[in-house]
Amino acid sequence: MLKKLGGLGPAAGVLAVVALAAGIASSATMPTVNDSMTHVMSVHAQTIWDISSAAFNKKGDGLVAKKISPGDWKRLGEAGRQLKERATLLAKADRMIVSVRGEHILGEESANGGPHDAASAKQIQAMIDRDHKQFVRRAMTLAEAGAAMEKAAKARDVRGVYKVSSNLDEVCDGCHEPFWGTDEPPPVPKGYIPVLKGK
Ligand code: HEC
Repeated sequence: MLKKLGGLGPAAGVLAVVALAAGIASSATMPTVNDSMTHVMSVHAQTIWDISSAAFNKKGDGLVAKKISPGDWKRLGEAGRQLKERATLLAKADRMIVSVRGEHILGEESANGGPHDAASAKQIQAMIDRDHKQFVRRAMTLAEAGAAMEKAAKARDVRGVYKVSSNLDEVCDGCHEPFWGTDEPPPVPKGYIPVLKGK
């Protein structure tokens, strides 16, 4: 799903910067879920997927060490570390805030009775508050995957890198399904006017 997010164009970059500023300003110590997803999880997961897919063997069922440069090994280790640290932070918070004003939830335009099955920030917040234990568990699973990536990259262990990278999407979706209600909200159809209740 993330690869598709790359094509949003320059406007998306501006929005992301605005959202980042908003996310940090209003929660000085604790970044929101949305901030973590857009600025940490998606960025570092993409690094892992990009480097892995460029290093696939012919069959595509493993990686070739020679295709991973010293710089890439470093980037893999750093990406793993960043995922581990942010996921640990998500797991340790007493209560996770989904988003603050100015942060956009992907697909939220089609929530609240829209034509698609997407969730609003309010609905996502309720889902997390209802089953915080599971949220913590899912976050810890990601923290463990990040730690395993960090370790494999340090040891230049291609099997270890492949194992984490090929399973990472499932780790992400394991939390998206129960708490976002989807793993990829469909695009809002052209001409659809969103109903933004409670905004
Ligand atoms: C512990 C739970 C959890 C884990 C693990 C998790 N996510 Fe998320 N993610 C969420 C929630 C909740 C949302 C919906 C709120 C939102 O969109 O900000 C979300 C939304 C997203 C979005 C959409 C952000 C937007 O613009 O609204 C992206 C991109 C994303 N996640 C990427 C990832 C990636 C990549 C991983 C794995 C490396 C991952 N997430 C792992 C909980 C999680």
